Amino acid sequence: MPLSSSFSRLSVLAAAGLLGAASSASATALPSSHLYERQSVSALPTPGMGFNTYNAYACSPSESTSHTSIDHLQSDGYLAAGYNFFQVDCGWVSRNAQRDSSGNLETNTDRFPSGMSALSQYATSKGFSFGLYSDAGYRACDTQSPSPVMGSLGYEAQDAALLQSYNVSYLKYDNCYADGTSGNDNAPKNPRTDFPTRFGKMSSALANVGIKKLLVCQWGVAQKQSDGRLIGPSQWTQGLSTSFRLADDIASGWINVQRILNQAIPIALNKTSGPGHFADGDLLEVGNSGMTIDEQATHFAYWAMVKSPLVISTDLTAISSAAKAILLNKGLIAVNQDSLGEPVKLIERRSYNYDLHAGKLANGDMAVLAFDWTNTQRTINVQFGDLGVVSADVTDLWSGATQTGVSTYSKQVNGHGSIALRLSNIKYTSTAAPTLTYINADKGVLAGAAVVQSCSGCSDGHDVGFVGNGAGNTLTINNIPATSSEKLLYFDYVNADVGFSFVGATNDRVAQISVNGGSAQNVSFPLSGYDWGRDVAKGYRVRLTGFNSGTTNSITISNPNAYAPDFDRIGYVA
Ligand SMILES: *[C@@H]1O[C@H](CO)[C@@H](O)[C@H](O)[C@H]1NC(C)=O
Ligand SMILES: *[C@@H]1O[C@H](CO)[C@@H](O)[C@H](O)[C@H]1NC(C)=O
Ligand SMILES: *[C@@H]1O[C@H](CO)[C@@H](O)[C@H](O)[C@H]1NC(C)=O
Repeated sequence: MPLSSSFSRLSVLAAAGLLGAASSASATALPSSHLYERQSVSALPTPGMGFNTYNAYACSPSESTSHTSIDHLQSDGYLAAGYNFFQVDCGWVSRNAQRDSSGNLETNTDRFPSGMSALSQYATSKGFSFGLYSDAGYRACDTQSPSPVMGSLGYEAQDAALLQSYNVSYLKYDNCYADGTSGNDNAPKNPRTDFPTRFGKMSSALANVGIKKLLVCQWGVAQKQSDGRLIGPSQWTQGLSTSFRLADDIASGWINVQRILNQAIPIALNKTSGPGHFADGDLLEVGNSGMTIDEQATHFAYWAMVKSPLVISTDLTAISSAAKAILLNKGLIAVNQDSLGEPVKLIERRSYNYDLHAGKLANGDMAVLAFDWTNTQRTINVQFGDLGVVSADVTDLWSGATQTGVSTYSKQVNGHGSIALRLSNIKYTSTAAPTLTYINADKGVLAGAAVVQSCSGCSDGHDVGFVGNGAGNTLTINNIPATSSEKLLYFDYVNADVGFSFVGATNDRVAQISVNGGSAQNVSFPLSGYDWGRDVAKGYRVRLTGFNSGTTNSITISNPNAYAPDFDRIGYVA
């Protein structure tokens, strides 16, 4: 029996946080009942901006490269643009697999001969606050395996005091060697049950010595609750840290941007990132090899608009003027530092074509990002109607060009390039909201391994899983009405298949959808969360072609090579 509901287009936009006051309220509110109250909204009201050594120097930074970086940050305009902290990542602690006779972490004096107090003073004398790195395990992450560098597990209070003596204002706290010191313990990726307690110890220790900023760096690994439910860091770090890494490490190449963005999407939609507690997409790759300059620009624009901390991590003595201009883009930095702190949300993915993301700004403006998936030069036409907007004034944040009172913005971009806009004087759509009719997936025709299973977060307590991964494992939905060849469908689905860098994950699942037996149209479904039984993405827009006028259209969902997501229901305008 098809369910019918008046889930409107307007409420889809409101749910996506584009409209209404609810989104701004929830962006600043952290649960008051949490164990670890850091009063962190004031500790990090807007995303952090600074420099970290890792992407440029891995675990081998030095005093001299640090001084050079600090000097360039100050003299080349980065500090003035807002990049106001300097943080040494792995590599500052000695490599002798022991603490000193007082039990303190020892400095690697081969690389930092003057010590960390001296470097801290150098950084603060140039106008930066100082940050360091440690690890919530027996050993810290390192390029050598097993790592010869001590971690902070069991020494949280002592290490917090040491960090405080170095005038550290911001700690990045990693997750290697959580269970032991062997090479196999390096980077555990299986769901854990100890994240809040293990990271909470350092959170409290830092609070006790007055260090306010903490990045919990656990690569987007799941936390398993006592009821068996899986949650991500956006949930368990609330009140515990000022930011949290939302995904596995970034690395060289566009696939990393794709992977991290597909993991950021459900966090942005779920409003679990905001002032005092920002989702961190990881250090910027702008200036490094592996991405075209257009890809670097899209990477930066998405990080800025999704309100990730913006942390430069490149050799500033060798950066190109084009990469430098990206890092210094005033309009995007202003969007990133907007006081509302609201991440842009995915409005619509036109799979293998382009993405459209948008979000509200404090003064009523809207940040909009559209970027290419075809990896060829092409024109993207952003239609403001897709944003619930009739017309607006536009500033193109890449070119600086402005237009007044327009309803579309069209521009040629290079492969993976982007259109980044700020809309102001916005006139919103006031037309009557369309009514969606739903067909539950468990009322469809299942073939092969496809199976109805329980899903407590789903509309009727069930969804259909095991679609794909074999040509015969399909789900067919019949009797979809249409009036023209193209039709917009709204999918409620689950994809909790969280993936990591070392397996080349993209963090989307692909469904091949055939309309009326026609050729397959590939549709990308980004992650919806961490828990297969609960974390349902709602109202995901999919445009398909091949419909006939009438009421007997069918879609068949398959994927011979890999699993599709699980499907709760499919909505349409009758
Ligand atoms: C400690 O760092 C802050 C910036 O975070 C700086 O303003 C202050 O002067 C530093 N204190 C000392 C004693 O160096
Ligand atoms: C869909 O994806 C499959 C598998 O990657 C590919 O072979 C096929 O060409 C794609 N189809 C379209 C229409 O892009
Ligand atoms: C959204 O956040 C709430 C509360 O933090 C949580 O209960 C829910 O599972 C989250 N949903 C998704 C899809 O992550």
